[in-house]
Amino acid sequence: MRLLVCGGAGFIGSTFVRQRVREFGDEVVVLDKLTYAGREENLKDVADDPGFRFVHGAIEDARAVAAAMEGSRPVEAVVNFAAETHVDRSIAEPDAFVKTHALGTYVLLEAARERSVRYVQVSTDEVYGSIEEGSFTEESPLRPSSPYSATKTGADLLVQSYFHTFGLEALICRGSNNYGPYQYPEKLIPLMILNALHGDALPVYGDGMQVRNWIHATDFARAIGHVLEHGEPGEVYNAGGPDECPNMEVVRRIVQYAGAEESLIEHVTDRPGHDRRYSLSSQKARALGWEPRVRFAEGLEQTVAWYRANRWWWEPIRSGDYRAYYERQYGRALA
Ligand code: NAD
Ligand code: DAU
Repeated sequence: MRLLVCGGAGFIGSTFVRQRVREFGDEVVVLDKLTYAGREENLKDVADDPGFRFVHGAIEDARAVAAAMEGSRPVEAVVNFAAETHVDRSIAEPDAFVKTHALGTYVLLEAARERSVRYVQVSTDEVYGSIEEGSFTEESPLRPSSPYSATKTGADLLVQSYFHTFGLEALICRGSNNYGPYQYPEKLIPLMILNALHGDALPVYGDGMQVRNWIHATDFARAIGHVLEHGEPGEVYNAGGPDECPNMEVVRRIVQYAGAEESLIEHVTDRPGHDRRYSLSSQKARALGWEPRVRFAEGLEQTVAWYRANRWWWEPIRSGDYRAYYERQYGRALA
């Protein structure tokens, strides 16, 4: 298949691209704005593949989208990962979240509609809000709590409107919390791994008893591929991980795998509007033949080992703009 993958230079997008090129033999065009979270280095394993092309541009720029979709061989489907993805940044500066998720998704949908190509929107469990017990299904009401999740919800509704109104072959795949190699260290797991390896404090928000449903990025990428190939147009598919875990337990395991001291753990001011628990029922995706393969304990230990072995990847981030972000967010400097 010839795919346009928007946001393919980010964490999950690049995992998806590696998988589709290597395991499925797809031809892939990546369109990416290269924000702080997008890096061409993430695509170095496929950069020399004859079917691979990189276009630097934003999804809200209709000309960049057209250039990426046309080329010598027009694409047959669009998979949209492009997004601002960090909840804390959406609280501090929501502007880019509104532009990318609302305007960007609209521009991409228009481009897909004009060319009648299949469209998959990559979405999140955060659109359902928090759940104390049980799990959200695709029929659960949408109750987003942060500017991140509210704008992602808006994008999902727009995608559904293009199916209902224009008959676009549009599908949505909603994932739970991803982890694995190549994740930008603003997120809980890579932040705690790198801080533990450097002897920096480990900042746990509030009581640390918030629960997340962890899925390895290779499993989420496979779910998105499955929805792309086998999903019904107009439908939503949840893809949750096999295990859930409270944040304190995640951090303690990282301390153990990194060989650090538990005394580094510090409770800091809670995130405003912090969702307590996320949980997805993935029965519908499982009925399509997908299931997650990586258990959290094993995937987390491998992830710690990957960060330990791949200094080339995180060193430029940790010594660059990320330092200033960290100081603003946590009120202290990194070692
Ligand atoms: P990421 O922040 O690592 O990557 C986002 C990518 O999108 C970057 O390469 C960035 O440069 C690009 N981008 C941002 N704005 C753009 C724009 N306007 N035009 C073009 N490119 C742009 O994100 P991620 O964690 O890989 O998440 C990818 C997708 O998966 C997002 O849509 C996110 O909402 C969704 N998702 C993430 C998780 C998670 O736990 N990380 C879970 C479920 C769903
Ligand atoms: O659930 C899917 C979502 O998961 C994705 O849609 C988002 O793009 C992604 O960022 C993620 O959102 P979370 O807010 O759940 O992830 P984050 O890694 O920021 O935080 C995970 C939990 O850890 C959350 O309860 C907040 C807590 N946390 C996070 C950070 C960065 C801390 O306690 N300390 C921290 O320093």
